[in-house]
Amino acid sequence: MKIFLDTANVDEIRRAAELGLVDGVTTNPSLIAKEGKAFKERIQEICSIVPGDVSAETISTDWEGMVKEGHELATWAPNVVVKAPCTPDGLRATKVLSDEGIKVNVTLIFSVTQGLLACKNGAHIISPFLGRLDDIGLDGMQLVRDLAVLKRNYGFRAQVLAASIRTPNHVIEAAKAGSDIATMPASVFNMLYKHPLTDIGMTRFLADWKTLPNYEEAIFGRAAAAVRG
Ligand code: E4P
Repeated sequence: MKIFLDTANVDEIRRAAELGLVDGVTTNPSLIAKEGKAFKERIQEICSIVPGDVSAETISTDWEGMVKEGHELATWAPNVVVKAPCTPDGLRATKVLSDEGIKVNVTLIFSVTQGLLACKNGAHIISPFLGRLDDIGLDGMQLVRDLAVLKRNYGFRAQVLAASIRTPNHVIEAAKAGSDIATMPASVFNMLYKHPLTDIGMTRFLADWKTLPNYEEAIFGRAAAAVRG
């Protein structure tokens, strides 16, 4: 499963990318507004850090406007993916842009039928927002599971991207559901590698190692001797 960061904060992206674990980035108008930086420059900066897909969202509500924006966004960097909402106009714009070879991430998907229509119109990515469904007492992960089955049944090229992730458990369940991608805030990403037993284990190993006589030379012996002459 690919891991995407759901943020427009370049420091967060850089830190996670340094670990070699960031396959792409999703942004949305709220995340861009939070940063208070120029949209184009910020997307281009993110695209230069992460070689994979970087989603940039259209803000028009009519399909012609979305297509026009999509044409512009696609010139910003080779790895820009145009985000369009799952509305009738968004689906129409998805068809037009996809037919032209521009990659589209159909966003704000809350039902299986919405996902099906986005796949049929050539979406490169479909984004079910599981956390927002959970927020209103529904089962967001079931939508991810259903869309993964739908993709397999018909061989749609769209990648299922589990979005609106709130917890590491969402990441685990998305992987078990067969989601192609999970996008998450840096706060969730940073929880994926942490475990208290790893920290306790490290502390004990290092303490025991230091009981060895000349413990530093045990590993750096030859090099240290060479430096000392
Ligand atoms: C995905 O592309 C969206 O930006 C995101 O996952 C929305 O998450 P939220 O519900 O936490 O705002």
